[in-house]
Amino acid sequence: MLNDGSSALSLLRTRRSAKPRALAEPGPDATQLRRIIEIAGRTPDHGKLTPWRFVHVRPEQRDAFADLLERAYRSDNADPGRLEIEAVHRFAHQAPTLVVALSCPVEGTKIPVWEQQLSCGAACMNLLLGAHALGFAAGLVTGWAAYSQDVLRGLGGSDGERVAGFIFIGTPAAELEERDRPEAADILSEWVPGG
Ligand SMILES: Cc1cc2nc3c(=O)[nH]c(=O)nc-3n(C[C@H](O)[C@H](O)[C@H](O)COP(=O)(O)O)c2cc1C
Repeated sequence: MLNDGSSALSLLRTRRSAKPRALAEPGPDATQLRRIIEIAGRTPDHGKLTPWRFVHVRPEQRDAFADLLERAYRSDNADPGRLEIEAVHRFAHQAPTLVVALSCPVEGTKIPVWEQQLSCGAACMNLLLGAHALGFAAGLVTGWAAYSQDVLRGLGGSDGERVAGFIFIGTPAAELEERDRPEAADILSEWVPGG
């Protein structure tokens, strides 16, 4: 169920991920995307280091993005099959909107890199919530491309940066199915002092 924007609680209780390949038009327009990114920017960030940033791969750039992925895949996999290359191109063309989240921890500060990476994950989560709040669905995926140095470089990433996820945004072609969620009792315990 998509959020109708009327209730923050309903927003938080209804967000779920979409499979990128199941996302169709429309995606957010430029103004909506900016709002989503602003929401992502409202993320806890110890030391105010902004250890994350986002790269928008515009719709007309998807062919070039697919070529980048194909080159990277070929350099990691000798003699790939036609189906593998087709899968790479399908990945690159999923969903109307693609934003790549980059983790950019700042070295040499007193804030541990671990905390900066946690902040990046939280920023991605806020981005997903922002997309949901504006009536879209989104999905964050990684896969081999998130760990490829060639892909990182091709996206403009530099030393010390990492792809945190490919975030695809659009409108689900069919209603999203819910999945099992952990029970609060299974993930919350009461502290036992000295226990
Ligand atoms: C860091 C990270 C990477 C992920 N990578 C993938 C992935 O490559 N493929 C995939 O199908 N799901 C991946 N997921 C899971 C989906 O993003 C999503 O969490 C899952 O489909 C459940 O959806 P939910 O948000 O409704 O719980 C990843 C999740 C995280 C946090």
